[in-house]
Amino acid sequence: MERTEVKDCFRKHFGHEGGLYFSPGRINLIGEHTDYNGGFVFPGAVDKGITAAIAPNGLDRCRVIAADIDEGANYAEFGLDESDKPSQHWASYIFGVCRELCKLGVGVRCFDAVFSGDVPLGAGMSSSAALESVFAFALNGIFDGGVDKFGLAKVGQATEHNYCGVMCGIMDQFASVFGKKGCLMRLDCRSLEYEYFPFDPKGYRLILLNSCVKHTLGNEYNERRASCENVVAHIARRHNGVETLRDATHEMLDEVKNEVSDTDWRRAKYVLDEKERVLTVCDALVKGDYELVGRKMYETHWGLSRDYGVSCEELDFLVEKAAEYGVTGSRLMGGGFGGCTINLVREELCEAFVKDTGENFAARFGHELPVYSVSIGDGSVKLQQ
Ligand code: GLA
Repeated sequence: MERTEVKDCFRKHFGHEGGLYFSPGRINLIGEHTDYNGGFVFPGAVDKGITAAIAPNGLDRCRVIAADIDEGANYAEFGLDESDKPSQHWASYIFGVCRELCKLGVGVRCFDAVFSGDVPLGAGMSSSAALESVFAFALNGIFDGGVDKFGLAKVGQATEHNYCGVMCGIMDQFASVFGKKGCLMRLDCRSLEYEYFPFDPKGYRLILLNSCVKHTLGNEYNERRASCENVVAHIARRHNGVETLRDATHEMLDEVKNEVSDTDWRRAKYVLDEKERVLTVCDALVKGDYELVGRKMYETHWGLSRDYGVSCEELDFLVEKAAEYGVTGSRLMGGGFGGCTINLVREELCEAFVKDTGENFAARFGHELPVYSVSIGDGSVKLQQ
């Protein structure tokens, strides 16, 4: 649905005018599963996301229409008390945001809303963070909450933890709120310091290939996080001050090899390797050495696949094909278990790579391979009407 249609739909259903807001999805160049380990991430907002029309309604129920969902399942009504959690899964994101804002003391009152998105669902581009961010940003503005940008990102993260069952890190919500056109952002997830990196790799393009394996993060994601925390607990018995894997070294990890399961050990090893890769990539970006950036992306993929265990056949296939094609860098992006690969491709290779990979993929898996060319956009905004 176009942005103006969101507004029209709001007027048609609720008979008054809604303010229009937008929050984007994100990509992440490198630094995967590092955020909840206190490490670095390197995301950017994309020019796709969720648009919402929202206005207070003076009633004791919120009324929300998810315009992209089939009629019959696209409407939710709920109050703002903790016991009012709506039954629709999609609505629990919005309800969670309201509750988390209330917990911060924001005087949220009931509202009407219509929302629609163009960020593909379950593709590892953080459609859920876009949904949380657009409501957090809008409601904070409408009800004069005074919550700052990090506060809003944390509202989205807490919504995932407390209302959606995903113990995620801060990366996705951070990227959605803080995004800046043409820039990637390096975020230190321990100190929350961040820096914008203009990203304009001359001669290269970033291309996403959507495996269409629907990724819903839940238990498997939470288990990875628990593995990391378990290893930290063992290391911390020997080393004061180790609070997350960010504080740990490979030597410390070796010391606990016989105390933790092989699975947990390998997951922690991946995180330590990834920590080093992100820093190497930062240097390489400053020097404009995209070939090195690309090599690190491949290493990340195989670490995620073999050590962290969050890839799948389709994603491995896509990364193998990219390597055979001489693509500079390729890896699964986001939480894993499906979704997209992110590919750093020399311009002259793009067309043929996309075409051939699409054909190979369809021959092997029996369905199309959606392709998105990445354009890095701004974070949450109130749109001009
Ligand atoms: C999901 C989570 C993020 C992050 C990534 C993996 O997108 O929401 O917090 O952990 O997975 O890097």
